This record gives sequence, structure tokens and C-alpha cells, in this order.
Amino acid sequence: MLTSVYKHLADCPERLFSLAGAAVIIYFISSAIYEIYFSPLAKIPGPWYIRVSRFWLISRVATARVATDIESLHEHYGPYVRIGPNEVSISDIESVKKIHSVHDPYLKSRLYKKLGNGLSSLFFIVDPEAYKHRRMAYGNAFSKSNLSLMEPVVRKYVNTCVRKIKQDIDNKGITDMMKWIQAMSTDIIGEISYGQELGMLESENFNSVLQDAVTYTIIIAIRGHFPLWRALESIITHIPHPKVQHTFGCERRILAYGADILENLQPNVQNGKNGKTQQSLFSKILANSKNSRIKHKMTINEIKQEALLVLIAGSHTITIVGTYICWAIFKRRDIRRKLETEFSTLNKDVTDEKLQKLPYFSQVLKEALRLYPAGQIPAPRVVPGGTGGRQLGEYFFPSGTEVLTPIYTIQRDRTIFPDPHSLKPERWNNPTKEMEAAILTFGGASRPCIGQQLAMMELRLLVATLLQSCADVELADSCTDESMEFVEYMSVRPKANKCELRRRTTEKVSD
Ligand code: HEM
Repeated sequence: MLTSVYKHLADCPERLFSLAGAAVIIYFISSAIYEIYFSPLAKIPGPWYIRVSRFWLISRVATARVATDIESLHEHYGPYVRIGPNEVSISDIESVKKIHSVHDPYLKSRLYKKLGNGLSSLFFIVDPEAYKHRRMAYGNAFSKSNLSLMEPVVRKYVNTCVRKIKQDIDNKGITDMMKWIQAMSTDIIGEISYGQELGMLESENFNSVLQDAVTYTIIIAIRGHFPLWRALESIITHIPHPKVQHTFGCERRILAYGADILENLQPNVQNGKNGKTQQSLFSKILANSKNSRIKHKMTINEIKQEALLVLIAGSHTITIVGTYICWAIFKRRDIRRKLETEFSTLNKDVTDEKLQKLPYFSQVLKEALRLYPAGQIPAPRVVPGGTGGRQLGEYFFPSGTEVLTPIYTIQRDRTIFPDPHSLKPERWNNPTKEMEAAILTFGGASRPCIGQQLAMMELRLLVATLLQSCADVELADSCTDESMEFVEYMSVRPKANKCELRRRTTEKVSD
């Protein structure tokens, strides 16, 4: 009987194709029916076409609108939304706390491995033991105890950055604040980490490494989400067009740059405060790698990868957040005036310690960090095994489900932050526990950002110095709400890719 069916099909190949086509269609329809009605996640709300494939999520990455479109879904469906066959976005703060808890950690999803593309630096590590080992090998490199080493370096470059902004406005009438902040944050991370003056600000060299860093964050975002991207990338990189070669060579160039920096690693950083020198952070890590008595250390290859990570994570994020914070303050005369008054209570020698004690300034920064975190794309985590999964809110999630905590939605939740899209520093006068818990700008408790202390110091000194020195500066006409709209890849960027300042016009001074 079977032989006769085979013979029949072999005699008529069109039938074979129709049968294969029908099988594929039946497969897709039945898996769609399963995902919509019978999957363990079937009860979680969300549009049917999003439940059945990852296409929607991928298309959002392609259009650089992940965070804002997930926000629209939450507006419509509530705090739990299914955004793929195995992916659920969760903005319910109690569940968010559980997902990022240190006690029952939900591990980073395999997306991070894909983003890393073979790199095994801290950010991309998923395995908890490997993470623990690497984190300990960093030691206290970026911790609070090292802030005294960092401050003189940060102040030096903040002052140069503000001087350059003013000079540019004096000479050309207008300047792009974002490019200066980018050069500043790269110089800072270069000197603190590697003891080297990269000279981005002084040489006004904005195009090479800095541009590569931006391109790199876009490429890794696409790489993480597109299923066939790796295969496609290996074909594209063979196209002999100079532009294609340049674009896709960014990762190689940045790695080489990180390795070069490491090669020329200077053991010490000048501490401008008292003329003494201290070890640069990576020289400590490097020294540890050669010390047989130290248990948690890195190999040279791992250190090179960390050098790349720190260079990008430590510059790109500050550029985005610093630019948005300054823009938000320049936009609001009332906030700017209050800050100027508060800064006038300080004497000339502005230190970070003094800035941390200014109540209104602290509220402004907290509020701006709520609205403008660098990364808006939710960090996916995996529901742990054990009892077969976890209960989150009223739903049970089988182990292996990918849960995303959408920073943009959570930090703009109107039940926690009334009038959520407005910059209202005074809401932090008396914050609730819920408000504090809803801030994920520097990540969740189980895998927090290691550069938070450094980042906050840079932001405080930058904003204070800029406002104190640039009383006669305002946003240029090119800098509008539209030009500053988010474009979202691994991190956000303003749509116009710049944020211009100009000298304040006489007319507006009296306004
Ligand atoms: C305003 C500036 C910054 C913001 C908003 C920021 C934000 C974040 C966030 C949200 C995460 C967690 C990402 C995730 O879970 O997927 C993270 C991780 C990380 N950040 Fe930052 N960051 C900033 C500055 C820095 C700086 C200056 C450094 C330099 C050392 C740095 C190094 C890192 C590293 C190495 C990780 C990975 C930690 C881990 O996976 O355990 N960041 N950052």
C-alpha cells in the first residue's frame, strides 16, 4: 500500500509539492491554535498575532520602537502582556522586584549570549557561577571606595568639555552638546580605567571610535533579535563595498582599540587633587591576573574583552543620559532658575560631595533619570526551574519562559508616577517605596550596573558645571521635542542624533 502511495507521488511531483505545502500550513495553523488557546501562557492577554510568533518583537527592533510600542500594549492590556510565543512583558512592580531579586535570581536570557557574539565580558555572561567569578575579579574597581581616585579626573574633563562648548558657541554661535559629552565620557573612562589620556576632547576627534561605538550598539541590537542575522552578517561582510566594510568592521576596530589601550596601559592615574598618583583600575586587574595567590582573576583575553565593554558601557550611556538631562533642564526655565539659585549657595570649589547634598538638584537628577534612562529595551530574564516555574501576580509561568521588565513602561507607570511623562522633580520630595522600587535606570538588584557611582558623579559634575558656566546659553531652534524623540536600539538616541545649544538671545533674557 505504502509503496503504491510513494510510486504515485513520484510519478506526479506537483502532488508532492502540494502535500509539503499543506503540511507546512497545517503545522503553522496548529501551532498558532496551540499558542492562542492551549499554551501554558494562553491566559495572559495580548493580541493574537503577537502570541503566535516572534515576528512582532523583531519588527519593533527593526523600526527602533520596542519600548514605546510595548508601552502601548501595556496601556491596552494591563501589567502582563504576552509579546511572543514564549515572551511576556511584565510591568507589575511586585513581580518586577521578584524577577530582579538577588535571592531567587531569574537569569539573563540567551539573548545576551547572542548580543555578545562570542565575547564573554561581564554584561554578556549568563551562567551565575561564571558571573560571580568575573564580578569578583573586577574587585572594587568602580565602587564608591574608588571615587576619590575618580573625582579629579572627572572634574578635569568636565571642565574641558564645558570650556569647549562655550568656545564653540563663541566662535560659531552654536554647538552640538551631545558630541562634547560623548568625547568627555570617553576621555574619562579612558583615563580612569587605563591611565591614558585618549585626547578625544582636545583633539576634537569625534568620528572614529565614537562613531564605531554607536554603530556597534545598533549592530548588536539587530544581532540579538534577528534569527538569521548571523548567517546574513557573514554574507554581508564579504561585500567589497567600502561603506559596508567600514560599518561591519566596527566591532573589530573597537576590540583592537581596547586591546591597544590595554597594551599601552599606564600603571598610574594622576590624582589632580594632591599631585599623588594612584593605580588605574585596569592596571590593578592586570596585576591581579599575574598573581598566583588571587583566586578570582581574569585571563589577558578576558581583560581585553572587559576593556572593550567598559569603554562602550562607560561612554555611550553617559552621553545619552547626560544629553537628555541637560536638554530637559534647558527646556524648563523654572527648574533651571531653581537650580541656579541652589548652586549659588556653593562656593567656587564645587565638589561632588557638596553636590550630593543639594536637595533640589538630587530630585531633578532622580526625575530626569526616571524619564531618560539610557536603555529602554527591556532586559529579558528566564523563569527559573525548581517547582516547574514561578507564580507572578495571578499567572503561573513555566520555567524557561522569557519575562521582560520594560523600563520605559515601569518608570512611566501613572499609578506610581501621576502625570508620568512630565518632569516633576518635587515628586521625589517624599518618595514612596513603590517609586524607589520602580526605578531600573541602573538595572535590577541581581545584575546592577557596576558603573553607577562613576556615572552619577559624572552627571552631577557635568550638569552643575554647565549650568554655572553657561548662564547665557539656551537650546538652539534645531533642538525640539521632535528632534529629541527616542530612537531605540540597545540604548536610545535622539532622532536628530544631536542636541544643539546657542547663545541666549537678548529677547529671551527678559522673558
Ligand atoms: C548613566 C549611565 C549608565 C546607565 C544608565 C547604565 C545602565 C545600566 C543598566 C540598566 C545595566 C543592566 C543591563 C541589563 O540588565 O541588561 C547596566 C549594566 C552594566 N553597566 Fe552600566 N550604565 C551606566 C554607566 C555605566 C558606566 C560608567 C560603566 C563603566 C564601568 C558601566 C558598566 C556596566 C557594566 C559592566 C554592566 C554589566 C553588569 C552585569 O551584567 O552584571 N555602566 N548598566
